[in-house]
Amino acid sequence: MAERQSIHGQWSSRLIFILAATGSAVGLGNVWKFPYITGENGGGAFVIIYLLCIAVVGIPIMMAEVMLGRRGRQSPINTMTTLSAEEGASREWSLVGWSGVLAGFLILSYYSVIAGWALAYVVRAATGGFGGVDASGVQSLFNDLVGDPERLMAWHTLFMLMTMFVVAKGVKAGLEKAVTYLMPALFILLVVLVGYAMNTGFFTQGLDFLFTPDFYKLLHSCQVVDGVEQCEVSGSPILVAMGHAFFTLSLGMGAIMVYGSYMPKKASIAGSAILIGLLDTLVALVAGMAIFPIVFANGLEPGAGPGLIFQTLPIAFGAMPGGQFFGTLFFVLLVFAAWSSAISLIEPAVAWLVENRNMTRIRAAVWLGLVTWVLGLGTVFSFNIWSDVKFFDKTFFDLLDYLTANIMLPLGGLLIAIFSGWLMKKESSRDEFAMRPAGYSIWWTLIRYISPLAVIVVFLNAIGIL
Ligand code: PFF
Repeated sequence: MAERQSIHGQWSSRLIFILAATGSAVGLGNVWKFPYITGENGGGAFVIIYLLCIAVVGIPIMMAEVMLGRRGRQSPINTMTTLSAEEGASREWSLVGWSGVLAGFLILSYYSVIAGWALAYVVRAATGGFGGVDASGVQSLFNDLVGDPERLMAWHTLFMLMTMFVVAKGVKAGLEKAVTYLMPALFILLVVLVGYAMNTGFFTQGLDFLFTPDFYKLLHSCQVVDGVEQCEVSGSPILVAMGHAFFTLSLGMGAIMVYGSYMPKKASIAGSAILIGLLDTLVALVAGMAIFPIVFANGLEPGAGPGLIFQTLPIAFGAMPGGQFFGTLFFVLLVFAAWSSAISLIEPAVAWLVENRNMTRIRAAVWLGLVTWVLGLGTVFSFNIWSDVKFFDKTFFDLLDYLTANIMLPLGGLLIAIFSGWLMKKESSRDEFAMRPAGYSIWWTLIRYISPLAVIVVFLNAIGIL
């Protein structure tokens, strides 16, 4: 097949692709979401299922997304239309692209609000707000912030402006350089925090929580009421673990596909995907190792919910030497990690508007940014004035998160697996991967049978059929 070119340009090397895709993968999902959902779902057993999902579902689907993107060389919607025509499949496969655009926009709307918390904490840390605070002090700092719709709105607005600015300039010219230095710096700082956690006296308890599987705790959520532990059967922890594997690797919505469409032809897809998956997992585990010892050392609840890192890490920064500096740096780096993820959430939609509506990137960014900002207000209010408004027993934020991470992304991933494993001719995918026969056969078996089956089984389990 004659090689197609992307009208949006190409990454200058494989390394830049890896940096950009790692920038997309590593974000709030690793540092904010992974610890709190692990805490809510009982620890070790949840972590094992999450790791299994990364290996048998996440990495094969990441390879498929990059492969499809690089072959189609357009926005996910147009890539799916072009490839389905080429492979003799129905045009309706472009729906995978459409659902991805919708998921990206829904996720960004709340992602920006949480990134806004991190922005607020930059200022808090820099002005010495964490000095000597105890557990109840940080809790009230956090509750004051999320209880104030105006402040949340201001920070959400600032983060959306930052995101749209980079999106308008183009991904390549935008964050490429920042990602090169800031991602490693974030990692080093997490390791420093693990060093602090080692000295809390609760390090082994934290590790135990994170790595010793207890399947009873996975399937039941327990709370201590008046000194007595009360447990009830929990919602759908396995689905949450799988959903998070998709979320943390940015899969199932075209973000990695669109980044793949800018990937140079010669670069190895398999090697890149495995490396990105490993780096992303490492960051999440290190974040967990830093946070849980601090949780136990201060008598906090691992299941405290979305505020978990905002209610634990400041205690560490308040107590350690140089904490004002490290705390500021940490939240700055977290903002950068969120920033490089946020731009990938909207890139599939921007690429489509540029291709099909002939818009400039700037116009596309402004329009998409406005709509996302408005929807984000729903999340802002769900932490305060709308905290009692529930849909299916969930706040607006919880509902959006559940719908996107646990339903839309796995469903998108399932369709991508079916398309690449069952509809695409073997010669096409083999030609695009250009890897050793043994490696190709492993991928083929995983994407054709194992990954789709795993997603289907987890879905059926969540609705009570299996
Ligand atoms: N992977 C990002 C994180 O872990 O924070 C979130 C994300 C980015 C999800 C891009 C989906 C996506 F397409």
